[in-house]
Amino acid sequence: MAVMVTGGAGYIGSHAVKRLLADGQEVVVLDNLSRGHKAAVDKLVALAPDRCHFVRGDVGNRDAVLATLRKHSVDSVMHFAAFALVGESVDEPVLYHRNNMSEVVELVDACLQADVQRFVFSSTCATYGEPKVVPISEDEPQKPINPYGVSKLHVEHLLDDVTTASQRAGKAFSFAALRYFNVAGADADGILGEDHDPETHLIPVVLQCCLGQREHVTIFGTDYATPDGTCVRDYIHVEDLVDAHVKVMRCLVPGDRRKYNLGTGEGLSVRQIIDSVQRVTGQKLKVLEGQRREGDPAQLFANPARIRDELGWSASITDVDQSVASAWAWFQKHPRGYVGSK
Ligand code: UFG
Repeated sequence: MAVMVTGGAGYIGSHAVKRLLADGQEVVVLDNLSRGHKAAVDKLVALAPDRCHFVRGDVGNRDAVLATLRKHSVDSVMHFAAFALVGESVDEPVLYHRNNMSEVVELVDACLQADVQRFVFSSTCATYGEPKVVPISEDEPQKPINPYGVSKLHVEHLLDDVTTASQRAGKAFSFAALRYFNVAGADADGILGEDHDPETHLIPVVLQCCLGQREHVTIFGTDYATPDGTCVRDYIHVEDLVDAHVKVMRCLVPGDRRKYNLGTGEGLSVRQIIDSVQRVTGQKLKVLEGQRREGDPAQLFANPARIRDELGWSASITDVDQSVASAWAWFQKHPRGYVGSK
């Protein structure tokens, strides 16, 4: 039996593929390469040419996905393929509703037709919107404040509905919605890393500054109701994140519908992240204080107690300097990302 990883050419998806291959799993990577990297897939296929299959295509092409699921006897799907920029989703809601929602309806339909049993869905803490209580537990009301969060919440609802129907029909579908916080770092072997164009995420942006690719870092807002006035986020290492996916996937039984927040449980401010980068790289950066960015909640950090209590999982990397150091190692070796990478 194989696992299909949609978005397996992207940042988190590629790390998940690598981990699954290391576990001896057969993996089908489905990616249309609209934002993923063929170079990342090539590296993954080279790790296990007989067990890693790449299919270039859209998750919304139901018939093609169904044929692929059947051809490789896929019984589990990890769904990462999505657009994930809050600001872009505000400017281009149709893109997000189409790509993250409508296309996923087709993917889920194909999974049901192919009798896929486990569906691990890459959701987001953006489904909570502006939380009333931090750290955020899974019981916090889900009231997204941007189209990105709405699109992901819609898929959670879809998966709940199809799991109910599948159970009634005596079928074995199950799912987990994993609500991510901020993902950071890179693969310890240095093969994979973060490469977005344009890059908007804080840690890579600050590291690009260290590489001389940006002249300065701008802090988006210093007047938030947080200890130092800058936004607080929960930065989880990408390898911890994929470890949680694998653990959750393995525990799913027919009819399961699990929802977990994946974070370290510690909130760090923008200033603390910049300080960490300066510590790790030994560089002193030019830091400007700018306006707030549209749609940024003041504080988002996880209460990860549910997954710890139910599955015994917690993040192994809780020192942000370690995550920053692993990202820095990748950026030093791949200053232009996968372009020209070996
Ligand atoms: N920030 C800056 N300067 C920058 C870049 C970011 O101050 O140059 C700040 C942001 O305003 C924010 C924090 O750094 O307060 C983190 O920003 P990121 O862009 O790195 O990450 P986000 O918290 O905006 O986004 C993350 C995920 C999204 C997810 C979102 C949920 O990347 O996929 O959390 O709110 F939807």
